Amino acid sequence: MIRWLAHLTAASPALWLIWATVRDQLGADPIAELSHETGQWALRLLLACLAMTPLRRITGHSGWLGYRRMLGLWAFAYASLHLAVYLVLDLGGYWRQILDDLSQRPYIMAGASAWLLLLPLALTSTRAAIRRLGRQWRRLHRLIYPAVIAAGLHFVWLVKADPREPLIYIGITAVLLALRLPLGRRSAATPTTRPNAGPSAPARRSPPG
Ligand code: HEM
Repeated sequence: MIRWLAHLTAASPALWLIWATVRDQLGADPIAELSHETGQWALRLLLACLAMTPLRRITGHSGWLGYRRMLGLWAFAYASLHLAVYLVLDLGGYWRQILDDLSQRPYIMAGASAWLLLLPLALTSTRAAIRRLGRQWRRLHRLIYPAVIAAGLHFVWLVKADPREPLIYIGITAVLLALRLPLGRRSAATPTTRPNAGPSAPARRSPPG
């Protein structure tokens, strides 16, 4: 039930965008609005996906990990919609412009890198791929870190006037990545948190992931 609610919540911005497009309620520049909303939701869902492991560590409840794949796939779906808006509506058939944009606008290069880094993660998100890839799967899925950094750079580079909004996203990204550092993990598991543990008590290591 909670899983379905989570899917419905993640799908609702897309449903709203379809509704607003059909009703012609996207404002004076509907293409910019579609690009804005799909880009922002892709980034928010990517950050929500990254937040699941720290939440597991902080709350001690492993149920959070069950939402990682769902959130990652929704983030990729919004990023692909965002790319489709750019290719189909923004460029409108002027495909040669892609090469100019990639070479002249660093933010397009950063966005494209983020999408390309997310692609193999989406393609290997099935249970069969997890089984087939074994240990390699974990290593491959570390691509989420450069992907979220590239997405943050993409956002901060494209903003011309007020960088506060992309900087907030970059700040959240930095906190979520810092919470995964081995130093943080080890200190969370040090015996000093247990009042009766003597100096010779062995330090427990928290599980990876
Ligand atoms: C090939 C891939 C991509 C292309 C070509 C692309 C292109 C664009 C363009 C043209 C804009 C609007 C720029 C403007 O307003 O002047 C934009 C905005 C944005 N994109 Fe991308 N993007 C790509 C991938 C991504 C990915 C993977 C993410 C996130 C995971 C993302 C997040 C954003 C965000 C947050 C904005 C700002 C939205 C706003 O507040 O206006 N983009 N992108």
